Amino acid sequence: MSAADPYPLSHVYPLGSRVNNRGHLEIGGCDTVELAAEFGTPAYVVAEHDLRARAQAYRRGLTARHPDGDVLFASKAFPCTAVYRVLAEEGLACDVASGGELALALRGGFDPGRIYLHGNAKSPGELNYALEAGVGHIVLDSLHDIERLERVVAERAAIQDVLIRITPNVAGDTHSAISTGQADSKFGFGLAEAPRAIERVADAAHLRLAGLHCHIGSQLLDLEPFVRAVEALATLGDFDVYNLGGGLGVAYLEAQEPPSIADYVATLTDAAHRVLGAGKRLLIEPGRSLVANSTVTLYTVETVKRNISSWVAVDGGMSDNLRPMLYGSRYEAALANRMLATGGEIHHLVGKHCESGDVIIRDVTLPSPVPGDLVVTPATGAYGHAMANNYNGIPRPPVIFCRDGDARVVVRRETYDDLMARDVN
Ligand SMILES: Cc1ncc(COP(=O)(O)O)c(C=O)c1O
Repeated sequence: MSAADPYPLSHVYPLGSRVNNRGHLEIGGCDTVELAAEFGTPAYVVAEHDLRARAQAYRRGLTARHPDGDVLFASKAFPCTAVYRVLAEEGLACDVASGGELALALRGGFDPGRIYLHGNAKSPGELNYALEAGVGHIVLDSLHDIERLERVVAERAAIQDVLIRITPNVAGDTHSAISTGQADSKFGFGLAEAPRAIERVADAAHLRLAGLHCHIGSQLLDLEPFVRAVEALATLGDFDVYNLGGGLGVAYLEAQEPPSIADYVATLTDAAHRVLGAGKRLLIEPGRSLVANSTVTLYTVETVKRNISSWVAVDGGMSDNLRPMLYGSRYEAALANRMLATGGEIHHLVGKHCESGDVIIRDVTLPSPVPGDLVVTPATGAYGHAMANNYNGIPRPPVIFCRDGDARVVVRRETYDDLMARDVN
């Protein structure tokens, strides 16, 4: 959006989005009505420039304040080979939470030495795969995880660098399903158990303890809990490496004004300098705040029905965006083919799935939608494609990258044959 833009869009849309003189939404210089005609809907449309710009903001922000640092893409947010590729090209390192994400990260071009493997229930198979691939660090989550990794590494007569995940007893203000820093958590070691885990790893002949990790939760719009988490880590001793996790919240709604990447990084590094001391290697691990606002989802209106409410049903729903159903998350919506339409009435924007809970946005204002209109929901880059599923046998949508007016499909739409591809007769 430029200052001279006659039809300014809010910050929930990808950087560079605009409304063209046909009243259509443009993402990455591509007219979304033309995208829908060419690639069909539903579709995830990614502004490649937005992904790159946020990655650069993170890298610049961290290295300016703390040169011995690295930004890891928390790839669970958007585990798509093309996204890994772009963020690897931008010089980021990578956090993976499973063997599958590791496979994608390697395919996307990440240097294995800069990959960090997380997980509270890593299998021996995943650990062996990580060692074979040469993953730089494995983040240990429980005593069983330590024992298992030690066994697997010893069998290979190798040495593995590790971090220990700490649950610092800090809970931010977010949905309970994505809060991870509280004492009663399935993740990591609590502050009371941490000394035992640290001792245990320090004594392990085949593990080299580089430092500590914590991740207190996701979609946090207040920075103060991040500071308390760093302070908690400082009580556990002196280490070379501290991975401070991800969690910065984003604007899903126009009224939300999350802290900037620069302010977030400044807060973390200031806290680290104050309580962890000099000469530390600092890692941060953003997912949502790197990718959420890079992407919009396009849907076509199939039906409009009025009873007590007005129900606008589109050709996707909980198979392409589970967040409203899992966490009650809210989004904005507009008609991408009629961005300049004025007025509007209140509707429920719903999906095509066989559940009354398949509501994408309750009580959203749209200007008299009719079948064939193109609905856009912005800020669907994080945990959208990542959590897509085949409920009701719905093929998952394509991912389309747009850049300077060129569109390319980086993940094709699933087909009905794909739905049967794993069948064994
Ligand atoms: C260990 C870890 N690091 C980083 C992240 C990324 O969090 P966010 O997407 O909120 O930045 C997560 C998200 O669940 C996580 O579990």
